Order: sequence, then C-alpha cells, then structure tokens
Amino acid sequence: MRDVAVIGVGLTKFGDLWETPLRDLFAEATLACVKDADIDKKQIQSAYIGCMTSGLFVAQEHLASILCDYAGLNPIGATRVESACASGGAAFRAAYLEVASGASDFVLAGGVEKMNDGADATYCLATAADQEYEVYHGVTFPGLYAMIAHAHMHRYGTTAEQLAAVAVKNHRNGAKNPYAQFPMEISIDTVLKSVRVAEPLGLMDCSPVTDGAGAALLCPVEVAKDLGRPFVKIIGSGHATDSIALHDRADLAAIPVVGRAARRAYEQAGVGSKDIDFCEVHDCFTIAEIVCTEELGFFERGHGGPSAADGLTALDGQIPINTSGGLKSKGHPVGATGIAQIAEVFWQLTGQAGERQLKKSPRLGMAQNMGGSGGSSTVHILEVVS
Ligand code: COA
Repeated sequence: MRDVAVIGVGLTKFGDLWETPLRDLFAEATLACVKDADIDKKQIQSAYIGCMTSGLFVAQEHLASILCDYAGLNPIGATRVESACASGGAAFRAAYLEVASGASDFVLAGGVEKMNDGADATYCLATAADQEYEVYHGVTFPGLYAMIAHAHMHRYGTTAEQLAAVAVKNHRNGAKNPYAQFPMEISIDTVLKSVRVAEPLGLMDCSPVTDGAGAALLCPVEVAKDLGRPFVKIIGSGHATDSIALHDRADLAAIPVVGRAARRAYEQAGVGSKDIDFCEVHDCFTIAEIVCTEELGFFERGHGGPSAADGLTALDGQIPINTSGGLKSKGHPVGATGIAQIAEVFWQLTGQAGERQLKKSPRLGMAQNMGGSGGSSTVHILEVVS
C-alpha cells in the first residue's frame, strides 16, 4: 500500500440553504477543494461521494454522474457511497484505498446532503434504523439516542447537566466557525430548558437538519511532496459494522462499532488514544459524543460525562473534541458530515483553523463518523507533515 496524503479540502456554508440546489452544493465544495489543493481538476481520476438518501430528500438518484457532470469532472469514474450518517467517512475511506492501492493518483472524496427541501426529514433519517423492529413501532433517531442516554445515566450516573456541557462546548467552538449553521454560544440553562424532543434529550441536545457539502482531495504522499503545498498524511483508516437495532446489542450504554473501527485505525497507525491530540467526534446527539469519547479510549467507561463537564474536551482541554463545533453547532448534512470532519482535522493540522486553532501545535488528529445509532462507523487518523 502507498502512503496517502490529503492535499486540499473545501466546504460549503452549512445551514438551511433554500437557494442552493444539491448539485450546486457539491460543485461549490469541489471547486473550493480543487482551488485549495491548487491542481487542475482534469487531474482528478476518480471520485467517491457520500450521500445518505438524496432519493428521499430531493428525489434524485444516479447521483455520482449528475454531480460530477455539473462540477465539470466527467468522464471520471465516480461512485456514490451510502452508509447512513457515516456515508462521508466511508467515501473518504474508499478514496484512500484507491490511492493506496496504486489504482489512481488523484481521487476526490466528497459528501453532500440536502435535507431542507420539503421532505419529512425525520422519516428520511429513520430509514437508517431497523424498519421492522424499531421504526414500525414509532421510534426514530432522537428516541433511539434517548434510550442510549437513559442506559448510560442508569449505569454510570451520567446527568442531564453533563449532556448539556457537550452542547455548550460545541456551540462555543462553533461560534468561531464561519461554516457553522448555528454559530451562537448557549448556556447550560438554555440546553436544560430547551423544548423536549425525547427525554432526556431536548432540542439543544440534537444536531440540526442541514444542507451542505464537503470535498477532500487525496494523492500519494510522494506526489504531494512535489506539489509544494501543505498536506497531511493518512496513517490509520478503520471501518466497522454492527447490528442496526439497539435490542440486538449486549449493552445499550455502549456503541461498540466505534471502538472496533478505532482499534483498526490505531493498529494501522501504530498509535494509541493517548497519542491523539484532538478529535472530531460524531455528536449527532450530546449522549453520542459522551459514549464515543469512551469508545475511542479517551476516557474510561462512565467518565465521558464528567470529563465533558470538567472541561477536558474543551479547546484548551486534555483532548479537544469537536473544535469545529461538531454536528451540534456546525450542522449535520448527513452524507457530508464525515468529509467536514476531515476538513476540520486538515485545517487544525495545517494551522488554518482561524480563531479555533489549537494553541499547542497538534501532530495527530482523528475523525470519527457514525451511521445511525451505531450500525456503522469509520475512524481516520491524520498526521501533520513537517
Ligand atoms: N439546535 C439548535 N437550534 C435548532 C435545532 C438544533 N438542533 N433545530 C432547530 N433549531 C431551531 C430553528 O432554527 C428554529 O429556530 P427559530 O424558531 O428561531 O427559527 C427552532 O429551533 C425550531 O426549528 P424547527 O426546524 O421547527 O425544529 P424541528 O422541531 O422541526 O426540529 C429537531 C428539531 C431537533 C427535531 C431536528 O433538528 C432533528 O430531528 N434533529 C435530529 C436530526 C437527526 O436525527 N440526525 C441524524 C442523527 S443519527
């Protein structure tokens, strides 16, 4: 396998983007990425594009062709990748493997979702849960994560205030991110008093419904060295699946797929959780960030909540989590989220994160993307190249 670099990234603003069609979102992110990498887009040989369910959201399938045509990338080989909310991470991994294998030199990893075009977002998202055993009985994602939260609270004593600390911290970071959908700071009280969605989760414990796209350009490290631009190296790529339905899992207070994907990434990279300087974590709900930080090995089981409340995951904390504002504040256009996480890691490692830039120059950054309530996950570890 060849060593692979990320040489550029691009994002659209995240939000309620009524004026911007799906194909424009993808083209905007792609062109920003190509400009960032400073290459000719004709050099791109292949693309993998994460998208969860454009067919339901905007009635458009056969996605890779229509997006690449509009972005001026045809006739490259292009594939749409679907793994629910982990579609972006799975697309990034596919692009990584194609470059690592030697099959192509320049490969685009994209992600896009347009969720605010009028479709019933809750219904569309719930197609990523188990239809027969979960959705037919009335449960959707806020309800599934509420069950995980209840289990975690019961088992470890996690509190609503600790959940709220995750949202407060992510909004504090997101307020420094020009791409964020909800870039406002909030208080613990705002979270605790927000309208109830599925107890113990209120509106401010939930990621929003978002339109947006992202893109990252990959090439071999040996080629990147000759480009004379900042780049980062992918040193670990982990991917795992699990049962979709919560009742099929042994422990409701855990999300084992994240630990499995992380162990594969750590093993490939030859590093452990203590070596990671910061991480973008899939905080689709506040409880998800708490459980995932435990699964990734940053904290012991049951310590994720107190660690968030004690500031260990803040920008200046022991292990900064979601410097971008995470899904909670930056937004969660499901197919694009995994790529947006990579963009944040790239910007932090190359010193381009603006007001959110970590003070201690980070060396290793991680991105953890997750499908549904833990049916799939990807974990990537990126290293700065000095
Ligand atoms: N965080 C902060 N503010 C939010 C928000 C969020 N997650 N979602 C909506 N808002 C704001 C809106 O801007 C709006 O503010 P305004 O009244 O000042 O304009 C207000 O709250 C109501 O917005 P609305 O769009 O009517 O909310 P909603 O009730 O339709 O949806 C949720 C709220 C939480 C149910 C929805 O965002 C949701 O389903 N989130 C989870 C998405 C999800 O499951 N993703 C997949 C994870 S696996």
